[in-house]
Amino acid sequence: MKKILVINGPNLNMLGIREPSIYGRSTYNDLLAFVSSHAEKKQVEVDFYQSNHEGDLVDAIQNAYGNTDGIVINPGAYTHTSVALLDAVKAVGIPTVEVHISDVSTREPFRSISYIRAACVKTIAGKGFDGYTEAIDFLLEH
Ligand code: DQA
Repeated sequence: MKKILVINGPNLNMLGIREPSIYGRSTYNDLLAFVSSHAEKKQVEVDFYQSNHEGDLVDAIQNAYGNTDGIVINPGAYTHTSVALLDAVKAVGIPTVEVHISDVSTREPFRSISYIRAACVKTIAGKGFDGYTEAIDFLLEH
C-alpha cells in the first residue's frame, strides 16, 4: 500500500474559525475526515501532520525520507517566505504536491510568490478541501 504524508502549516488548525469567507466553515478535523475517507476509497495510507512552526515542518519532511511515497503540503504563510521548506523537499526527493485552499493567485500580490513550488511536481489552489484529494490522486497516478 502506498503511503502519503499530508502536511499543513501555520493557522490551518484554525480552519472553520479563521476568515470563513476565504477558507470556509469546515474545521481542520473535518479536513482530516474528508481526506481519510478518500484515502480509504483509494486504498492508500495517509498520515497527517500540522504545525505552526517552520522547523517542525522541516523535521516532518525530513522524517518522511525513506518511508513515504508522496507528500501533500499546504505550507500556509510559509509558502511565501520559506527557503527552508523548499530545501527540505529538495533534500528528501519525495514527490510533493503544493496545495492551497484559497486561490492565492487572485489575493494579495505577496501570496503569488511560492518558494516551495520550485521543488513540487504540481500546485493546486482555489479548490478548497478538494485540492487535497486531487493532490493524492495525482501522486497515485504519477
Ligand atoms: C493558504 C494561503 C496562504 O496564503 C495563507 O497564508 C494560508 C493558507 C491556503 O490554503 O489558501 O495560511 O495556504
